[in-house]
Amino acid sequence: MWLLCGCTSKCLLTSSSRRVVRYSHNFLGKSFNKAACLPEAAGFEGVSDHSGLQQFSVSQTDRFWGAVARQRLTWISPFHTVQDCDLSQGRIKWFEGGKLNVSVNCLDRHIHTFPERVALIWERDEPGSEVKITYRQLLEATCRLGNLLRRRGVKRGDCVTLYMPPCPLAVASMLACARIGAAHNVVFAGFSAEALADRIRDAQSSTVITVNQGVRGGKVTELKKTVDMAVQSCPSVQQVFVAMRTENPVVMTARDVAMEEEMLREAVVCEPAAMDSEDVLFLLYTSGSTGKPKGLVHTQAGYLLYASLTHRYVFDYHDGDVFGCVADIGWITGHSYSVYGPLANGGTTVLFESTPVYPDPGRYWEMVQRLKINQFYGAPTAIRLLLKYGDQWVNKYDRSTLKTLGSVGEPINTEAWDWYHRVVGDGRCPVVDTWWQTETGGICIAPRPSNPDAEIVPGMAMRPFFGIRPVLMDSEGKTLTSNNTSGALCIAQPWPGMARTIHNDHQRFTETYCQPYPGYFFTGDGAYRSKEGYYQIIGRLDDVINVSGHRIGTAELEDVVNQCPAVAESAVIGYSHDIKGQGVYAFVVLKKGVDVQEAELARQLQDMVSKSIAKYASPDFIQFVRRLPKTRSGKIMRRVLRKVVERDLDGLGDLSTLDDPAAVQEVIQGHQDLCGKEQPQ
Ligand code: WTA
Repeated sequence: MWLLCGCTSKCLLTSSSRRVVRYSHNFLGKSFNKAACLPEAAGFEGVSDHSGLQQFSVSQTDRFWGAVARQRLTWISPFHTVQDCDLSQGRIKWFEGGKLNVSVNCLDRHIHTFPERVALIWERDEPGSEVKITYRQLLEATCRLGNLLRRRGVKRGDCVTLYMPPCPLAVASMLACARIGAAHNVVFAGFSAEALADRIRDAQSSTVITVNQGVRGGKVTELKKTVDMAVQSCPSVQQVFVAMRTENPVVMTARDVAMEEEMLREAVVCEPAAMDSEDVLFLLYTSGSTGKPKGLVHTQAGYLLYASLTHRYVFDYHDGDVFGCVADIGWITGHSYSVYGPLANGGTTVLFESTPVYPDPGRYWEMVQRLKINQFYGAPTAIRLLLKYGDQWVNKYDRSTLKTLGSVGEPINTEAWDWYHRVVGDGRCPVVDTWWQTETGGICIAPRPSNPDAEIVPGMAMRPFFGIRPVLMDSEGKTLTSNNTSGALCIAQPWPGMARTIHNDHQRFTETYCQPYPGYFFTGDGAYRSKEGYYQIIGRLDDVINVSGHRIGTAELEDVVNQCPAVAESAVIGYSHDIKGQGVYAFVVLKKGVDVQEAELARQLQDMVSKSIAKYASPDFIQFVRRLPKTRSGKIMRRVLRKVVERDLDGLGDLSTLDDPAAVQEVIQGHQDLCGKEQPQ
């Protein structure tokens, strides 16, 4: 402690009031000044404004990224090739020949200029008990931990799993791995023991780092116990480092290491490993449309460069600002915008341990006032929740430090956007709706940067970032060139921040992202391009649902439900939910002859999902049916199930291709019995 599409019926495209907001103030300076906007751009001839710079970045990709990489990163030895990529083969390599260390880029190089600047503000669960860590302290902790990991046998190329809440020691652990050349695999500390075990096994970690207990929303969670349970089925694990978040002792076995005590014995200097640009920096697991979560791989230089550049320009982050990203470090948003982007930029970044409503719905804004936050970055699900509590929770606090408001993780509906802009930002802060994914490493589409005074349309992600060329595809794989059209969102050329592969499964990587539209990166999302050429994200096109901004594959959920001995088969879909964006709805067919209390079984199934995956993934509704609507070839018609739950019976379409059209009537009746006449919420 010393340290430290499912395109739903409520699709956004149908939202009527699309107001155009024009800002009278400047975002990046009144007249375009290349050097001020992007110092590297000073040498780019013919560029006279932001859209010119964007054009340049996609047409002269190597010149653009080469200059930016040389200027923004500190290299041990320079790269000889900007990129060697072939998307159709799934080959993605940036800055080859270059050597660098990510922790040096995030820490050491700032120490020379401002050792006492605050790097991290740990906003602990207990309001008003924040802890500030300077760059000097963070480097010291990182070095001690790097030495400890090395002394305990962790080598370059190993992968260390972290199961920790947002806290300075978690950041030091990530950076310590980077310092010695090990990869990290942060697992969200809300995941169950089983989900954690799956990820440890897949990453083949021999070392796990955790804390004794977590504290969130005033509740204590037994993280060390969860790790104990998980590692029982992980033969690779040899040691578990345990930091103390609370003062309550936990049972320590011979395998466990008291982390802080051991760190104190280590030297505060730790030789950084000289890493190749394309060595692995981290794995991060995310859900796909099949049952097994995939460990996306990000590498050193390209990822860091992209996180740093987007952090600087999408949010207009300036030296001395306090950046408040409230995402958990267990997700990509926490990686790129609580840790790597801000630290690479020498920024001050907030680590938020609590919830938006603890101890009351004013938590975020009281924190903004107390920590003097300049950029606030959160999720639509929290905004929707808070707006229901009313404006008084916002108005109580001084938010005059705020300059930019960001949104991420799911589509932000117009009402939430408007409230965020008008109430939270007093109508004076640009709202940047940022679209990106675990796979993209950093923000790809966002309203900023752009020319001063350029418009922002509520609920739209708007414009591609430097180096990003979005394209929309029709169902036959043809590029849609006109505006005012919707299609599958692809990115036409590689960028440094993109994931390189799926850990141990490059074939799945190419099949998922590179082969659906050969030569393009397929995002899995659908998007609309307005007549002005702005982008709006519609939602997933695959069987992935997004619950409170967390991705979850329907196949993953079905795998769990089907493990119940009473269950013959199941189909899980997402439905529109006022607060969560999407909720989970499961249709379950029981085995013949099974005689159970349905309500009791439903509770058991919910419990199974919480235990196997995480609480947030647990189905809100479980409808027992005698059979599922299927095609004659036996494929479950999820489209039909979605329409039933959306109460869009006119949209059911032609059911004649179904094996047994009467199954649909049963599903409709059962749904009404379960949810009444209203749509589920
Ligand atoms: C969705 C989170 C609409 C999208 C950074 C994407 C969004 C998935 C937005 C990635 C946005 C993210 N508007 N939808 N601004 N941002 N998404 O990997 O479906 O946890 O594919 O990364 O979230 O989720 P992930």
